[in-house]
Amino acid sequence: MEVILAKSAGFCFGVRRAVDTVYQQVKCGGQIYTYGPIIHNEAVVQDLEEKGVRVLQEEELEDLQEGTVIIRSHGVPKRVCRMIEEKGLTCVDATCPFVKRIHRIVEKESGAGKQIVIIGNPGHPEVEGIMGWSETPAIVVETEKEAENLDCPAGKDVCLVSQTTFNYNKFQDLVEIIQKKGYNISVANTICNATEERQAEAKLIASQVDAMIVIGGTHSSNTRKLYEICRKECEYTCFIQTLDDLQLDFPDSVFRVGITAGASTPNYIIEEVQNYVRVNF
Ligand code: F3S
Repeated sequence: MEVILAKSAGFCFGVRRAVDTVYQQVKCGGQIYTYGPIIHNEAVVQDLEEKGVRVLQEEELEDLQEGTVIIRSHGVPKRVCRMIEEKGLTCVDATCPFVKRIHRIVEKESGAGKQIVIIGNPGHPEVEGIMGWSETPAIVVETEKEAENLDCPAGKDVCLVSQTTFNYNKFQDLVEIIQKKGYNISVANTICNATEERQAEAKLIASQVDAMIVIGGTHSSNTRKLYEICRKECEYTCFIQTLDDLQLDFPDSVFRVGITAGASTPNYIIEEVQNYVRVNF
């Protein structure tokens, strides 16, 4: 059986970097905390817990006396970094460099007097983090209605950034609405294309194979989307969480199998599935 594994399967660059950082810190010893779960994958969080890594809730930071606090790839508001330092704790910043870039833009431009507008979901931790780097209150816009109703302080120039995972077409539509309002506006397209690349590669592989395996959590919306994309290209597409779910009953005509995985699927699960298919079919 020929197996084609998507290069973009699983963790994106920023998440992989953050998870690797935690494992590296474990080797250094001492009490390690992650500021919120490092990734939305129970198996990984549990494995880290067994290695002594604790997930820190926001309200717990105040009482913490010692240890190392790791910031996850989403990033945090500036005040959180300050608090960790002021308390004399060790701060290991695993914020994705693409998110860090937004923090720098927002800090600089708000410091220069501009009104920051963030295109994104106001409840998402990444957006909360970005807001926290603006020197003056930032405005978050998620819908067309909010873009139409946007009311920035008179005379202020506007700097517009985006949440990294925001849909590009929707971003363009919202920018267009805001640009018509007559502000002096600078736009930084800070969308990361890791998700789009994963989807494009999955589509390409699914169109070239006889069967496709999509690995990821059943509640993971990005994995579900991957499944839908692959299903359109390849009739024999299956969705599994781990190797245990794999019940391959392929017809004899299946010679090539493609594999991809959602953003929070760890490498070892992908490898297990890949090895199993290679050996057993
Ligand atoms: Fe991942 Fe960083 Fe992009 S966390 S989705 S590589 S912004």
